Amino acid sequence: MSAAMTTFARDQDGHATLGGTRLSTLLEQAHVPTPAYVYDLDGIERAASQLKQAFGSRRHLIAYAMKANGAGSILRTLRDAGTGVCLVSGGEMKVALGAGILPGRMVISGVAKADWEIDMAISQGLYAIQVESLEELARIAGRARSLGRQARVGLRINPGVEIESHSHIATGHDAAKFGIPRADVSAAFERIDASEWLVSVGVSTHVGSMLPTPKAYVESATAVCEIARQRLASGGTLEYMNFGGGFGIDYGPQAADAPTEFAQAAVTLAAKHGLDELELVVEPGRSLVGPYGMLVASVRQGKESPARRWLMIDAGMNDLLRPALYGAFHRIEPLERLPGTKEWRVVGPICESSDDFGTHALGELPERVVVRDTGAYGFVMASEYNGRALPSEVFTKNGTVVHTSPSPGVDFWVERRLQA
Ligand code: LLP
Repeated sequence: MSAAMTTFARDQDGHATLGGTRLSTLLEQAHVPTPAYVYDLDGIERAASQLKQAFGSRRHLIAYAMKANGAGSILRTLRDAGTGVCLVSGGEMKVALGAGILPGRMVISGVAKADWEIDMAISQGLYAIQVESLEELARIAGRARSLGRQARVGLRINPGVEIESHSHIATGHDAAKFGIPRADVSAAFERIDASEWLVSVGVSTHVGSMLPTPKAYVESATAVCEIARQRLASGGTLEYMNFGGGFGIDYGPQAADAPTEFAQAAVTLAAKHGLDELELVVEPGRSLVGPYGMLVASVRQGKESPARRWLMIDAGMNDLLRPALYGAFHRIEPLERLPGTKEWRVVGPICESSDDFGTHALGELPERVVVRDTGAYGFVMASEYNGRALPSEVFTKNGTVVHTSPSPGVDFWVERRLQA
């Protein structure tokens, strides 16, 4: 099956390019220090448009999981391409509102929402607050009563489906903290119907991330369809069903089906269950941004030890946490292709053994490297650990830099630590 697309390539002289322009040229234009995330907004726009097309005339909402990357430039690009957002915090809600996304195109999930976040979701009139427990349902009803305004709630169900993925990103199995167990779903609907402050608008799930094919997605979505059918058959209200995100991308070792295949599987499944009257919501994060962002790092030095040949770069696990946290693999390549196939163990400057990006055949000692497919869960998971500045971000369109968000610099960290 076709892999998720990327706009990363190499020109005929062996220079790494993004969106058709050399990364070295983009960095020169941007005037920001490395480590720097460089994004191709055109690629992101195209990914969203293609996904939209895969729904055809089917009524749907692509609720981009902005936890993957909440940069304003990316949100505005996706807004213009017609997507809404899936939120997990009030902070994200503020950014999404600031980026001009309509509250009616937002859903919020999260197992432990704060009162102020629930209040804001109700007051702003979000499309849905996705409830993850019976206990939360009672809290939302209480907040709605004190605000004197009804809350639109969706039930996030836990379908009890196991996926083949890292245990940290599987969410739909029985032991996960997420979602309402199927056994409690009827009780949840009863409580909504019994409350004058709650309106039942949807059923959702999210089974986990990095799904290589729609198999587990369809399996968990089937549980959603069954619940939706029962709800409608019993005369209850429902406006949407939400199958979640989790569409995989091609990180190198294993390709994934294209996001459009997940969308088509969702449309087919909904039709099979006779649920065409409901809006179909999906929550992709990674697949809309991951392949269109690259982390560029400078090489500080090499190091030859008896066991290994090391390459020390200026990006660490504080800039890109995925390898340290999940054992995730990201391809690393030199910015300019050099002769040879010498292998290097690429590591960052952080004082932790897990600050390790794996072994890569880079050839002769490069000056700069690019860590590929880091548009999702890259910058958003960055920290200042070890007294390091957050990385820079560069946004490109039509092969040229349109916006930069430079690193705040180390002194920003120093000041705040001294004031702490
Ligand atoms: N909807 C909900 C409720 C979610 O929890 C998530 C991701 C998504 C949608 C979007 O999933 P996606 O399409 O991006 O796979 N930091 C990890 C991924 C954590 C995903 C958490 N939930 C990583 O770097 O792989």
